[in-house]
This record gives sequence, structure tokens and C-alpha cells, in this order.
Amino acid sequence: RKAIFPVAGLGTRFLPATKAMPKEMLTVVDRPLIQHVVDEAYEAGIEHLIFVTGRNKSVIEDHFDRQFELELTLTERGKKTELTLLSDVLPEAGTVSFTRQQSPLGLGHAVWCARELVGHEPFALLLPDVLVQHKPGCLAQMIEAANSLETKVNVLAVEEVPTERVHMYGVVGVGESKGKAFKITKMVEKPKASEAPSNLTITGRYILQPEIFDILQTQAAGAGGEIQLTDAMVALAKTQPFYGLKFSGRSFDCGSKIGFLAANVAYGLERSDIGPEFRGEIERLLGK
Ligand code: G1P
Repeated sequence: RKAIFPVAGLGTRFLPATKAMPKEMLTVVDRPLIQHVVDEAYEAGIEHLIFVTGRNKSVIEDHFDRQFELELTLTERGKKTELTLLSDVLPEAGTVSFTRQQSPLGLGHAVWCARELVGHEPFALLLPDVLVQHKPGCLAQMIEAANSLETKVNVLAVEEVPTERVHMYGVVGVGESKGKAFKITKMVEKPKASEAPSNLTITGRYILQPEIFDILQTQAAGAGGEIQLTDAMVALAKTQPFYGLKFSGRSFDCGSKIGFLAANVAYGLERSDIGPEFRGEIERLLGK
């Protein structure tokens, strides 16, 4: 069970924070964004992480490796709790792969860059900009839904957004329900509100069949001049079913400042160790 994490984006919306540091390493409370998403993948049973990185992203590789000097110092000082925080997030050796997207040609191209690492099996795709706060996590809910459908299906997490925001996302058309999921009848990347088939948007979690790679191989650029995953999914939908799942939980678009700040508040409030004190601080700030 493999999952792809595209982490090659430039993060220009967070400059200057992302001048020397990848946006995926921005922290929500005390875990980098990418760690939250990897946690969600592990919870869903993912065993192998595939990162599609770019230049200036080597800190992400370091994050998923041992930090030997730090471990030594913490051991010498008897800091057991801190050592556990490190060992808890260390993947087993040989279960993480990195490949580089050499040019920023779009999400579809980033996914295609992972084709040899994925091989001929279904895989999960998680966009680290999006956090979903819920237990069980969004991907676990999708895998459960997929298991109740026919074999060789593709499943996308979707959510309702206000009509004035649909142009920022991939949008799906809604067909018949099947258990918790529904048949996707249409997919459009970044449509005008007037041309969107619904206000259900693709939320950054996908379960895809490997045939998508054959299509991506020759996929032409689409919206924004980028090779779009959604366009390749439209082509794949001619031969394989696509289902949508309205997942439980709140999503945060951490690619935007407001979403990122809101995620920090939501995840901070949820924490048993700091939540109550943090709530007091927020209430003071709001003048309550
Ligand atoms: C990508 C996908 C889009 C999806 C979105 C979710 O767009 O192309 O279909 O709705 O992620 O965040 P991007 O945010 O990279 O423009």
C-alpha cells in the first residue's frame, strides 16, 4: 500500500517564510503540515511513502530520517519523552522514497513522476496543503468506502464549498449513490461558477488505479497551462468508475493563510495538553 505526496510546490503564498524552508514544513501546532498528512496515511494503512519533491526540499528528507546528534544529546540528558516524539515519526528503513519533479508542470505531471515507484497497483494520493480534522481520518474513510464498492474503482474525497469558491478547485458531477459514496458523472478543473456541475469540490485525497499513469504520459496542459490530474481522471473515467465520498470532518486549505491559521487554532484547541489554556488566550484576544 503506497501513497504519493506531491511536495514540489514553491509556496509563494507564504513568502518570506518559505524562502529557505518548504511550505510543507510549516507547523500546525508542533507538527509540520506534511507530518499531519503522513499520520493520516499511516492511520489508513499506508506502508510506503513516496514524496515527489523539488529543489530546496531536502529538509523534508531530513525530517523523515534519524537525527543522530539530537538523539545522542537527548539520550545523554535522559529526555525520554522527547526521544519518543522523534522515534514515533520515524518511518521504517526502506519504506520512504523520494523522486524529483524537475520542472513545475502541474499536479498531473508530479503524480506521473512517481509512476515507477508506484508500479502497477492502486495507490493513494494526498495533497499536503489540505488537512482534514477527524478520527478516523479522511483517507481511512475513503478506503472503507472503496472496500464496499466493486474492484478497480477510483475514489475522490469531495466537500461542499460556496459557489463563489468553486473556480479554485476540481468540481464533480453527482450521480447515483452507492453506500456512503456516489458515482461521479463529470469532473472539471477550475470551472467558472456558471459552468460547474455542482458545488462539490475535490479535496486533495484520491485513491487511484495505476492506469492513470498511461494517460498522464501524454496528457496535454489544461487549466492554468498545467498538466492537470483532473483532465487525466476525465479520460480514465471512460473505462473505470469514479466515486466521490463526502467525508466526515473539517478541512483546512493550508495553502492559504486563513486556512493555515484556522488549522492552527482548531488543532491547538483539540489538544488535551494545551487546549484549555489556548482557549483562554483566544477568548482574551477576542475580548470575551
Ligand atoms: C488541486 C487539484 C484540484 C483540487 C485541489 C484541492 O488544485 O487540481 O482539483 O480541488 O488541488 O486542494 P490546486 O490546489 O493544486 O490548484
